Amino acid sequence: MDKNIIKIIDQRKLPHLFHIINIKNYKKAAKAIKTMAIRGAPAIGGITAYAIAQAAINDKETIFFKFKENIRKVKEALIATRPTAYELFFAAEKVENAVLRSENIKEAKKNAKYAADEYVKRSLWAGKRIGIFGQKLIKNNYNILTHCNAGSLATIDFGTALAPIVFSKYDGKNIHVFVDETRPRLQGARLTAFELEHEKVPFSIIADNAAGYYMQKKVINMCIVGADRIAMNGDIANKIGTYEKAVIAKENNIPFYVAAPLATFDRSLKTGKDIEIEERNADEVLKLMGIRISTRKAHALNPAFDVTPAKYITGIITEYGIIKANKKDIAKAFAKAAKDKNDRIIQGN
Ligand code: MRU
Repeated sequence: MDKNIIKIIDQRKLPHLFHIINIKNYKKAAKAIKTMAIRGAPAIGGITAYAIAQAAINDKETIFFKFKENIRKVKEALIATRPTAYELFFAAEKVENAVLRSENIKEAKKNAKYAADEYVKRSLWAGKRIGIFGQKLIKNNYNILTHCNAGSLATIDFGTALAPIVFSKYDGKNIHVFVDETRPRLQGARLTAFELEHEKVPFSIIADNAAGYYMQKKVINMCIVGADRIAMNGDIANKIGTYEKAVIAKENNIPFYVAAPLATFDRSLKTGKDIEIEERNADEVLKLMGIRISTRKAHALNPAFDVTPAKYITGIITEYGIIKANKKDIAKAFAKAAKDKNDRIIQGN
């Protein structure tokens, strides 16, 4: 956020156009999230944090309880945009709490901005740590499969799933990435490929249906994906198609890792069965980059995410180390965060 304007890259136009959108109010922020101009769990957490802080700073209300009510409405509008990525809700709560615990409007404005800055700084730190821990899993000459986009565009920087890959490249390892195209919105073919090209990491885009073929042939050495929400037993929700990749990986004894910060874990959920899955417009399936590919009368279904049960996950790469996808290890990671005096966001406000 610069001069109270949030600047985002319009991800719908990539890789062909690099267009910046100026977000001047929360309605524009909500629209950008809903239309996926900005997308990816940590990135939508970041814009939400700043959109609430921006609304607080711009609010002309002079009566504190009315001001707080305005902020509550802003938060409600933002969290109504997309249901699955937990960071959206987590970030919104953190910044709203900063307002609620303030004594007056002046303090609330300052606290909201501070909370948003801290949230984003933490996200950056977490991505870097995920990169450092995760790159240890990647050996020289590895072929790594990834699904959707979990690089710098989807996050604040570094990425989640892409951070270990990019850090391995910095470390001089010879690696190759198999990029699932990720129908229907093609986040892999458009965005992950764009990021890897920028980082000079060799890659091949493959049709989503080709991942099983390469896993069966033992060409793929490991899979790394991101996550939008993780339940406390280690079940994860991520982009539609993740589940089938994980099942095929297990069938072929290929390690399947999920890279995600603790801000992705929804502590209210015991298992993944209650994760709400976003249903998006059928046109995303019926059309390819805006061009209709089916008959006029054709019907389509478009779930945006699926849930991969913990039993298919080899490990979760977090900012507190690589953990098993189970209740005990997840609790241990949160216990580590609780002891970390610099990490007030996960445990406190
Ligand atoms: O619908 P999207 O593009 O927002 O979905 C994004 C993903 O599924 C990512 O894999 C997820 O957010 C991982 S974290 C960067």
